[in-house]
Amino acid sequence: MSIDAPSHLDLPEHVRRFPFPFPHDRYMYSVNVEPGRNPSQTAAGRWGERILEVDGFYLQDLEARAAVLDRDPSRAAQMSHMRPGVWGALHLVLTELAATYPEWMAYERHGDRCRWTNRLQQLQTDFIVGADYSLPEGPLRFLSTQVQDDFALLNLREGALWLDAGVVTFAADWSMGFDVGLPFSEIHGPVPRAADLGVIDRAEQFLLNLQPGDPYRRTNWTMTVDRRMDTSTESYPEWAQDRSLVATDPALPDRLHLRVEVQHLIKVPTTGDLLFLVRTHLLSLRELAAVPAWGRRLAEVLRTLPEDLADYKGIARYRDAAARWLQEADAA
Ligand code: HEM
Repeated sequence: MSIDAPSHLDLPEHVRRFPFPFPHDRYMYSVNVEPGRNPSQTAAGRWGERILEVDGFYLQDLEARAAVLDRDPSRAAQMSHMRPGVWGALHLVLTELAATYPEWMAYERHGDRCRWTNRLQQLQTDFIVGADYSLPEGPLRFLSTQVQDDFALLNLREGALWLDAGVVTFAADWSMGFDVGLPFSEIHGPVPRAADLGVIDRAEQFLLNLQPGDPYRRTNWTMTVDRRMDTSTESYPEWAQDRSLVATDPALPDRLHLRVEVQHLIKVPTTGDLLFLVRTHLLSLRELAAVPAWGRRLAEVLRTLPEDLADYKGIARYRDAAARWLQEADAA
């Protein structure tokens, strides 16, 4: 740990548990997977020992998701052959939640009859596995009301993975409605350097060999203006212009956030589908700079990020201003 790390007790919980994603001063794409429950030490604290993280933003994030789904139901999609897959994913996620948070959540199952209790939502509901009518919003939407994570289910056939179901309301500039039904390789078509680096092909091989009960995870990152969770292609007109305006806004350190996705990759035992959980964390530059080792590292990453990656991530207009502010904050 860095010698200038502040006392952990001074930092709020969401900073101490922030999944700071940069092991080096320079960033490049890689198949950066690691075991799904590995505790990860950072300069501010620790994260990663749980698959599902329920934090102080739980109710706020779920409210934001419900509002997005009300406005635009295309963020939830399910191909007809995915009914067993969705039930399998729901069972897996509720089991994991109850095991991780027994003080708030309980999951009882007798045959196909289940009872789910979630005290954070004052919720108790009974349902029958496989009977979509037994959950008023159906199993896919119901799952999206219990975890902060977006999720996708990928079906394995013809030797490839196909994105055939999911609820994604907090996409970092992509569209669930557009990608549903596409194979893994095509979904990653827009990623720069993907073919040259071989990252996407190697990632798919890795995922095809994943075993049930052996979850993995990786992080991905970009930046977002304000605490905006929904930066999907569909809502682009609402957020795109902020990317130009923020560069000269005196409020830049409070408005600009490092956006980190903790992505879990889990093989669902009952169906063999791949469950892809995407949990989005946001931390403003000012909060980040409270941990000097983080501020310095992010400044270096932003300064040295190749132009094509900065363009693809949509951060080209403000990354220099952000790096400058971080360097000045460090020198102050
Ligand atoms: C984007 C790698 C798994 C969906 C990306 C990017 C990389 C990447 C490097 C570019 C990110 C950026 O610069 O911000 C990987 C690796 C994986 C993996 C190494 C597994 C080991 C998945 C899975 C899905 C997925 C399972 C399932 C849906 C996407 C999407 C994008 C993306 C939708 C955005 C593409 C766009 O611009 O439209 N991925 N990925 N990834 N990935 Fe993955």
